[in-house]
Amino acid sequence: MPVPPAWSGNGGGGVAPPPAGTPEDAVRREASSVGASTSGTAAGLDKAVFIPSLFDRIARHYDLMNIVMTAGVWRLWQRAFRRLCGIPAGARVLDVGCGTAELSLLLASHVGPAGHVVGVDFSPGMLVVARRKLMAAGMVGRVDLMLGDALDLGFPDDSFDAAASAWVMRNVADLDRAFTEMVRVVRPGGRIAIMELSHPPASLIRGPFLFYFRTILPLLGRWAARARLPVAPYAWLPRSLEAFPEAEEVARRMAAAGMTDVAFRRLSAGIVCLHTARVR
Ligand SMILES: C[S@@+](CC[C@H](N)C(=O)[O-])C[C@H]1O[C@@H](n2cnc3c(N)ncnc32)[C@H](O)[C@@H]1O
Repeated sequence: MPVPPAWSGNGGGGVAPPPAGTPEDAVRREASSVGASTSGTAAGLDKAVFIPSLFDRIARHYDLMNIVMTAGVWRLWQRAFRRLCGIPAGARVLDVGCGTAELSLLLASHVGPAGHVVGVDFSPGMLVVARRKLMAAGMVGRVDLMLGDALDLGFPDDSFDAAASAWVMRNVADLDRAFTEMVRVVRPGGRIAIMELSHPPASLIRGPFLFYFRTILPLLGRWAARARLPVAPYAWLPRSLEAFPEAEEVARRMAAAGMTDVAFRRLSAGIVCLHTARVR
């Protein structure tokens, strides 16, 4: 299936090789070519500018902070994603907002050598870390990385058998547009799987969860300050969740974007939600 030339994880398979220089140089050069379709404001911020620079700042510590902030439960959510995503072996999968390639690596092992994964992200810093991880894991031939925008995916219609995404949809400037783009690039009948933080329905859980988000998380931020990790970006996390719709509303908007068989599964009492669907 055709994929436009781009900065690639493997530099082969018909995809243009990375430009000369360090991975950082290569990625930053491409940054200037990413469109500005993410423009839009939410919570008073221009996400097109704010979000990529936020993730650039935290890229080096992103994986470690995820493990610390979730006390390792993050790995269990990833395992649940693999079990429930419905993406078959051999599929060609797009990982939207691939970040440091955590999900891309999981997907590559899930679809096996007959499948392929393309990870797209608009943070050059996250892609630099992702590329290093692919090299360390010996997976450069199985995952391509591309600088790109979830709201304006640079792929022809029906390019993939499936699209997946984890912890991204809270951050996009236009959720409906992100869904429509996924539907456009996945062939009819193909799979969509989206994992995201959510709003626990039970007040018994919702209360402590919000307390953790609003109170404990800033304490972790202070610890991070002492460890000279970037702190301020983590203030975005509770804000982004508060502005994100309930699971039922997410499902409704996925269907409105052209998905069918939309279902969702709450994980960890609804702290996290995995939405799955097919493209009509
Ligand atoms: C919380 S991280 C999740 C990374 C990865 N999916 C994971 O499982 O760890 C969110 C990622 O989404 C990316 N992102 C957010 N909005 C985006 C957009 N409009 N286009 C491309 N990437 C985007 C950010 O740059 C960041 O790398």
